[in-house]
Amino acid sequence: MSNPAWIDGVHSDLSEAKVSIEDRGYLLGDGIYEVIRIYNRQPFYLAAHLERMERSAAAIRIEIPYAKTELETAISELIAKSSYADGYIYMQLTRGSAKRDHLFPGNAKPTLVMYVRELPPLPDLENVNPAACITVPDERWLNCYIKTINLLPNLLARQKAHESGAIEALFYRPGGLLTEGTRSNLFAVIDGVVYTHPATNLILPGITREIVIGLIQKLGIPLKEESFNLDHVRKASEVWITSTTLEVQPINSIDHSELGYPCPGETCLQLMKEFRSLVVEAR
Ligand code: PDD
Repeated sequence: MSNPAWIDGVHSDLSEAKVSIEDRGYLLGDGIYEVIRIYNRQPFYLAAHLERMERSAAAIRIEIPYAKTELETAISELIAKSSYADGYIYMQLTRGSAKRDHLFPGNAKPTLVMYVRELPPLPDLENVNPAACITVPDERWLNCYIKTINLLPNLLARQKAHESGAIEALFYRPGGLLTEGTRSNLFAVIDGVVYTHPATNLILPGITREIVIGLIQKLGIPLKEESFNLDHVRKASEVWITSTTLEVQPINSIDHSELGYPCPGETCLQLMKEFRSLVVEAR
């Protein structure tokens, strides 16, 4: 099994890849990341991921030291070196290696790390199991649109979900407005309308969320990019979450209370099917 890695232009196997202990990603969490799915040796929605990476990097004032075409070439090379057809690319960009200081280093060159790992395709639609979520206060900062490597609130919430038998924790802000999951975006069907939190600073604008919104619009299903609260979601006829790794994942229980409708519901199932068609087309 080969897990190819790339650090600032140097190829190696992941097991051998090394960055400095003084890298600011390691010492200070001073960086951003992307996770890109590979289906049948093709990166899925690569351009959208690279654009989001540019926005995240600009937001924390790191200049990406490579042109987009260089990144695309490096990614193709990594995929060609991997020994499997389905996986994901992890990309992490940090402010570089320098003596530890809160101030930005004057002369450090940003570190870009990329590697590929295997991720088998999801099961056939009939074998996708609905899953449970819990809700937790959103204790993150107010710049959630940046895909920062600072993930402690997400990790603590996800661990809490896992320990209570749930697949995901859904964050809510003071007042109860739900934002997103620890690693996914949230959708709910309330009175026949699909709701999802608008792409503000309070959520990560998921690439999968954007694709699913496009599918909803294509299918002519009513959609509102508006926030909704805990009481609303408990009355929802359908709930699902989306992410690069989960695709469209139906949710049948929130805070240990069953939603009480067939799951996946009609809309969710339609979107799961449409999403899979996009994956098949991309293959
Ligand atoms: N997580 N919201 C958060 C907080 C996320 O971390 C993610 C992705 C998403 C969904 O974004 P996308 O559809 O672009 O994957 C939403 C990745 C997969 C992760 O951290 O592993």
